[in-house]
Amino acid sequence: MAADPTPQVMTFDPGYSESQFAALIDALPGASSYPSARFRTEWGPIFHRGRLDGSARLLVIGQDPAAHEAIARRILCGEAGHRVQGFVWKLGLDHSYVMINSFLYSLYGTQAPRASAALLEDRYRWVDAILGSSPIEAVVTFGAVATSVWNGYLASRQPAHPPVHAAATHPTAHVTEAALLTNWNAALQVLFPALSVRDRTLSSLRLYGRALGPSDRRAIPAGDFPPGLPSWMTGAIQWAVRGDDPTRAPKAARITVTIPTGSRVRR
Ligand code: URA
Repeated sequence: MAADPTPQVMTFDPGYSESQFAALIDALPGASSYPSARFRTEWGPIFHRGRLDGSARLLVIGQDPAAHEAIARRILCGEAGHRVQGFVWKLGLDHSYVMINSFLYSLYGTQAPRASAALLEDRYRWVDAILGSSPIEAVVTFGAVATSVWNGYLASRQPAHPPVHAAATHPTAHVTEAALLTNWNAALQVLFPALSVRDRTLSSLRLYGRALGPSDRRAIPAGDFPPGLPSWMTGAIQWAVRGDDPTRAPKAARITVTIPTGSRVRR
């Protein structure tokens, strides 16, 4: 199969200049959809990662942003995101994807709240805009909440030719790596044949082993991040944790950012 001849030249994500996405951001669901008792609204909504320019072929739906995402302002860029990047790499993609979450804000508390009709409609409008502007051939949902968003979308919009869909275990679900990767291998086998164009030429699908190998977490391209983000913020080494100093502020009010050792200019 031919690889996409267009090289990925962007060194940063230009943001939401496509007017339909800017309009969706302006129409953000309000506090009744995202009550601050259930969501970390104090860290702001985080909208997406990847291509909104009409070049995405794979739509990824995740769950909710975490600490790294709250700082980098793009979803799926911490540990979960690096695992997902390895997953899309196995499909032959290194830039022709777009990722959204089921929730714009990080969940607060242990239980995923029931999504309001307005919240779901906002998600569906994002999916409408993505499917309407990009040649999406496949959709992968990570976790039960994301799968229910996609199933809700299909029931609501009843598209005549929906993309191929695989429901996959969430990248940081509390399951063994072997169970996660068995599930991901099944999802890859559904998605791989659905893609007619890839970013790199692949003669066949290479499945995961029983544990994540060194190359199974992949670097996220600079083109997925806002301009000026230091490269360590795009890396796989953990650099953000919630809380850390409970004497100064409640955990929910703090994210501690620490530059990884190898990236420090001053020791
Ligand atoms: N970060 C995200 O943005 N989404 C997830 O589902 C997990 C981590």
